[in-house]
Amino acid sequence: MGSTGFVPIQGTSDLSRIEAPVTFKAYLLCAFAAFGGIFFGYDTGWMGGVVIMPYFVSMYTGVPYDYDEKRYIGIANSENFALPSSTVSLMTSILSCGTFFGALIAGDLADFIGRRITIIYGCLVFSGGCVLQIASTNQEALFVMGRLVAGLGVGFISAVIILYMSEIAPRKIRGALVSGYQFCITLGILLANCVTYSTSKRSDSGSYRIPIGVQFLWALILGVGLYLLPESPRYHVQKGKLDMAAKDLAIVRGQPVESEFIKDELAEIVANHEYEMQMIPQTSYIGSWMACFQGSLRKGNSNLRRTLLGTGLQMAQQVTGINFIFYFGPIFFKQLKNGPDPFQTTLVSTLVNVVSTPISFVAVEWFGRRMLLLLGGVGMIIAQYIVAILGVTAGRENANGEHNEAAVKAMIAFICINIFCFATTWGPVGWVTVGESFPLPIRSRGVGLSTASNWFWNCIIATITPFMVGNDEGGLGPSVFFVWATLTIFSLIFAYFLVPEMKGLTLEQIDQMMEEVSPRKSVGWVATTTFAAEMGHLRDQKKPHSSAGMAHDFPGSAQYPSSPGAMYADAYFPK
Ligand code: BGC
Repeated sequence: MGSTGFVPIQGTSDLSRIEAPVTFKAYLLCAFAAFGGIFFGYDTGWMGGVVIMPYFVSMYTGVPYDYDEKRYIGIANSENFALPSSTVSLMTSILSCGTFFGALIAGDLADFIGRRITIIYGCLVFSGGCVLQIASTNQEALFVMGRLVAGLGVGFISAVIILYMSEIAPRKIRGALVSGYQFCITLGILLANCVTYSTSKRSDSGSYRIPIGVQFLWALILGVGLYLLPESPRYHVQKGKLDMAAKDLAIVRGQPVESEFIKDELAEIVANHEYEMQMIPQTSYIGSWMACFQGSLRKGNSNLRRTLLGTGLQMAQQVTGINFIFYFGPIFFKQLKNGPDPFQTTLVSTLVNVVSTPISFVAVEWFGRRMLLLLGGVGMIIAQYIVAILGVTAGRENANGEHNEAAVKAMIAFICINIFCFATTWGPVGWVTVGESFPLPIRSRGVGLSTASNWFWNCIIATITPFMVGNDEGGLGPSVFFVWATLTIFSLIFAYFLVPEMKGLTLEQIDQMMEEVSPRKSVGWVATTTFAAEMGHLRDQKKPHSSAGMAHDFPGSAQYPSSPGAMYADAYFPK
């Protein structure tokens, strides 16, 4: 350290300089990572279509299908013939089980080998899972194993993309960029529906093998793209490799590495990390996981509160029941006799999801995270109760087993309104908030835990829903929306009490804000000082601001060189 050609890291007390200006090319670069959402969405979307394909059902039940007559041979009620609910449940939910573990493992890997490489590994694991699924022919165990392995890969990708994007995105558009990830999730679901729709009537194994095989393309694009993108500068700061962090930062901001802007931003990231390391000392491997659960529930910025915020918000997002429509839409719409074609209806609902999501790009930075969650929650509750009430009144099945056509159409319309409300609010904001909620020392694990929570609840819903609505089981039908609406009330309460407003703040300022105000008072909070100033890393060597700026004490700042954060006292980066 300290070799010629390097200068010590020093920052600024000027709040307007804590993030370097960003070029258009750099914006595009950050946006590419959003492509990872395609995996998530596509894998969520294709299974629902495949489990009702005649070829697939016939293969797993052994009941032959007459493709000319469009009926299962020898089955009295051929219209309602389907795979057993237990098979649908296993095949659908096993993916989320894999993703749950994948997200947790990725939380570790992202800190050990880096964000970028973890995502690339995720693409490889995922491709391995696809090979197993394609190789299976009426081999449930192999198929399920393939879903599990692909799920591990999706878990890696879904957790670390959020981490990576949140860490490289410029603060003013961080919400919009991460919403871009959500947009890609919705595109993935739509693509899956289009592909399964186009192969659904095939009388050969291409009907299910083609939708699975298409996924190799996503793995290739994301893997190669990420290979070319830089690592997250915050990862290199965490590893103490400030010269590399400076180079990464210069690329993601589109600035020369020697620019004063880059130095100022890097100094701020370093100073914040130094501060957080004093607050959250890194002890052992187990200790680093335990750190995610430390602190008091009452303290807004304690690790426990942040972990609760991330995991709870993901749970709250899932219990809105959105995946009921995306996983089981074809089955549910098939149950509504006199309604439009179930495949087409599912396609329309996924289209609504896609076209409404871009509204969130603007809304998330305009209204903020908190307001969107509250508005979206209210909208979903109303729409879902209306669907449920219609289902038990005008849309009720008559003695001939038919439904009133107008009522079915109205139910589908309100399901679409519900999707609109989700797509513009809880869908994107769930992910935006998770990427923003954790301090650097526990960020990858916190995001991993939160993503795992998403998949855990996703898995629970995918497992139990077929039993709730399946004709051979609970047969709840549209009444299932009473359940989702009531659970969404819980989500709304969660958002009101626990989600702070983070729009426009740097990840480092979010730390400050959480420490100083409660979620309900967080709207309008403004930073008054920088971490570089507080930690005494100023170019002009001015004294740190008084505690009027930050309400916390900086345990190491007075005797900074001897503090645990002193690992950065000798930090250098290229001139
Ligand atoms: C959720 C997914 C869901 C998707 C629908 C995401 O935010 O996490 O579970 O399938 O939105 O668009």
